[in-house]
Amino acid sequence: MTQDELKQAVAQAAADYVAQTAPAGSIIGVGTGSTANFFIDALAAIKDRYQGAVASSEATRKRLEGHGITVFDLNDVSDIPVYVDGADEIDGGLNMIKGGGGALTREKIVAAVAREFVCICDASKLVEVMGKFPLPVEVIPMARAHVARELAKLGGTPVLREGFVTDNGNVILDVKGLAITDPKGLEAQVNQITGVVTNGLFAVRPANLLLLGTADGVKSIR
Ligand code: A5P
Repeated sequence: MTQDELKQAVAQAAADYVAQTAPAGSIIGVGTGSTANFFIDALAAIKDRYQGAVASSEATRKRLEGHGITVFDLNDVSDIPVYVDGADEIDGGLNMIKGGGGALTREKIVAAVAREFVCICDASKLVEVMGKFPLPVEVIPMARAHVARELAKLGGTPVLREGFVTDNGNVILDVKGLAITDPKGLEAQVNQITGVVTNGLFAVRPANLLLLGTADGVKSIR
């Protein structure tokens, strides 16, 4: 199976899970990235059961609307039964690194509201210790140099994502060289640096369910 076929399989499994668990008429949280895009396409087939969706990025909003799915402002929504999104790395405790696509802050906000986070990945994303994938950190532009110096003190090598601006008008520093043995502690530590909007560690709010695409089929891990 190709990587795209694995992504498509987990996206379909997530749509089936949503159909089984999310109450009719509810609003679904939708992530960002190539795997999330396959999920949006699968969600389109069952869209009439739901009021619509909350999007974690402008790209996702456009794709949802392209399928005729109503997109709600998160401020008008008090309950999201399930949020479905990909990850750049995930460990056995279902902690994740996200933000390869730069949507980490909105992803974290929608995930914070959702009752359940379903992560959809191909098998290459499951790791023992996170950190090989550089940790994305969203930063207020005027704080870029200060935050970079503070991240270096934590042992990482921050690299500005050139030519990239987030949906919130900020920049991203991708931090290389971190061996993330304490995901929750590091998430809090990085977020305490003045000028950081948030970082791509999802450990304070990890996934509840991982649907992992493998050559032997989709595995469910809780
Ligand atoms: C977007 O900002 C990210 O958090 C994505 O969810 C993550 O990068 C996974 O993307 P892919 O499904 O494209 O690998």
